[in-house]
Amino acid sequence: MDTPVILKTFHMGKMKEYFVMPGEELHTDLGVIKLDELGTKTFGDTISSHLGVEFIIQKPRAPDFFTHAKRSGAPMMPKDIGVIISNTGLCSTDCVLDAGTGSGILAIYLGGIAKKVVSYEIREDFLELARKNIALCGLSNIELRHGDIAQEIRKIDERFDVVTLDTGAAAQVVPFVPQVIYPDGFLAVYSPFFEHTKEIREAIEKTKYTEVRTIETIERDISFSERGTRPSTARVGHTGFITIARY
Ligand SMILES: C[S@@+](CC[C@H](N)C(=O)[O-])C[C@H]1O[C@@H](n2cnc3c(N)ncnc32)[C@H](O)[C@@H]1O
Repeated sequence: MDTPVILKTFHMGKMKEYFVMPGEELHTDLGVIKLDELGTKTFGDTISSHLGVEFIIQKPRAPDFFTHAKRSGAPMMPKDIGVIISNTGLCSTDCVLDAGTGSGILAIYLGGIAKKVVSYEIREDFLELARKNIALCGLSNIELRHGDIAQEIRKIDERFDVVTLDTGAAAQVVPFVPQVIYPDGFLAVYSPFFEHTKEIREAIEKTKYTEVRTIETIERDISFSERGTRPSTARVGHTGFITIARY
């Protein structure tokens, strides 16, 4: 194994996990794990710490990259990514145009399904971090491009099935989406604020789309305890609104 792995164990009723690269030693409060032993293991095997605590070895999947990958800023939450995937019907023959790349989390989810993802990021340092995250997850169908999507979209002469925008520049990009999207294609824009969402809706209204809707998804954990089962009382925070338009 020369790719990252998840090491997971249950201790005192709680799950503990580590996202590690095969290498030297991992020091945990449950003992030291010799990571070079991962070379002889496969996913599903266990590895023990010097205190005899067993950790199951798992292959990281997209939600693990959301939890553990290095971040340049706020990545899109899996619940919002799910809304984009389900409402665009993203599939294995699709080519996606994405911006901004950020930590690359949305691109990683999209790349796990689509044929190809082209993702633009204005900041070179963010692009480098995303490049590392994407390399770790082993996807070779994500092409990262450096540039301001508001300018670059004017020069793109490819067509895409799905366009995803998670950047403050989205309203400037929307007018050019019809030039790069196949008829039937979907645009999905993530906006943290009502004001930004309104701006996006107004920009879409000026283009030749066939359908548009804006949704917010509220996710609630269900807590299980001796006293009973109910939605978690932990605060449910707002993330963003997703506007989906079809061309
Ligand atoms: C909220 S983050 C995107 C997070 C990303 N979707 C993810 O899941 O990791 C927004 C990103 O857009 C980038 N950005 C802002 N303006 C941009 C522009 N005009 N062109 C390309 N990227 C831009 C920012 O640098 C930032 O990395």
